[in-house]
Amino acid sequence: MARHWGIMGTGGIAVALLEAIRAEGDEVVAVSSASTERAAAFAMQHAVARSYGTHHELTTDPQVEVVYVATTNETHHLDVRACIDAGLPVLAEKPFALDLPRSQDVLAAARDAGVFVMEAMWMRVQPGFLDLHRRIAEGEIGRPRLVMADFGFPADTDTTRRWYDLAQGGGALLDVGIYPLTLITSVLGAPREVRAVGELASTGVDEQVAVAMRHETGVSSWTCSFVADSGVEATVAGDRGSLRLRGPLHHSPGVTRRRGAEQLEHATVDGHELGYRHEVREVQRCLDAEAIASPAIPHAATLEVMAILDEIRGQLGVHFPN
Ligand SMILES: NC(=O)c1ccc[n+]([C@@H]2O[C@H](COP(=O)([O-])OP(=O)(O)OC[C@H]3O[C@@H](n4cnc5c(N)ncnc54)[C@H](OP(=O)(O)O)[C@@H]3O)[C@@H](O)[C@H]2O)c1
Repeated sequence: MARHWGIMGTGGIAVALLEAIRAEGDEVVAVSSASTERAAAFAMQHAVARSYGTHHELTTDPQVEVVYVATTNETHHLDVRACIDAGLPVLAEKPFALDLPRSQDVLAAARDAGVFVMEAMWMRVQPGFLDLHRRIAEGEIGRPRLVMADFGFPADTDTTRRWYDLAQGGGALLDVGIYPLTLITSVLGAPREVRAVGELASTGVDEQVAVAMRHETGVSSWTCSFVADSGVEATVAGDRGSLRLRGPLHHSPGVTRRRGAEQLEHATVDGHELGYRHEVREVQRCLDAEAIASPAIPHAATLEVMAILDEIRGQLGVHFPN
């Protein structure tokens, strides 16, 4: 039976997920916005039955069974919390919240209420990411000792849009740095030491950042940027070679294996073109299993990454209002 989804948010990613949800056989029955007009326009354009001019009203819709939170970063914690309070399972956009304390509060509330919550860290259920981990586990490169990764693109500099607005939780770290960081911690675990340098924009957000980290069994370096069009790739190296997760790393087409400069394999994974459909499938699998968390995108991973992001923003002097 098709599940009935509600979507909080009317931006670009809301449209992408609406298409993925429908492609996976579920229905989108309601949408919400901070503006009645934007909600109605979205509903009309995408054939959604009901629209709401405040986000939390959507949680009172008797037909909504699961909510996708696609609002801007500064309200994620409030929006997810409203769903939990209404007993509705949630897929919540990344970053899960602005910081670790807010993330901890929300996930504790979800556990107490027994409500499913999953961060939409879709990279973790992509075939390319899973293939990289399979190869590492099978010892293709020996023990992984070093990871390098980047995520940079020229962002919209309009300060009313979310990227450069501190009040909307802007900045390269939360927008795109979260991907290389998540990838690195999935391979090497939490860092013991983190050193960051960066450039702040005039609005106070981090515009680009370079980070070096020391882990228990290796080192990593990564960058994120709103001004440089980088390759959005990652390389994991051990004493028997390297695996390059080809860009875009968060939905990679596959891995290239090298020893020294010699290319041994250039693999392409099936299903990488399905994009967001993999995370919708993960939500469906978890709800079918009556789980309150995804084993593929566990709460612990969300919290681990939020803690490191807090540390880096502290080093750079980036502070969100309130
Ligand atoms: N997983 C991914 O690959 C991915 C990709 C992109 C973004 N995201 C995350 O998703 C969240 C939303 O990102 P987004 O890309 O959807 O942002 P966006 O397109 O900039 O939209 C953000 C918000 O701006 C408002 N908005 C939309 N059109 C507008 C217009 N014409 N005029 C004024 N306001 C308008 C909407 O608010 P209302 O909801 O109030 O209508 C919308 O929710 C962020 O947390 C981001 O980190 C994730």
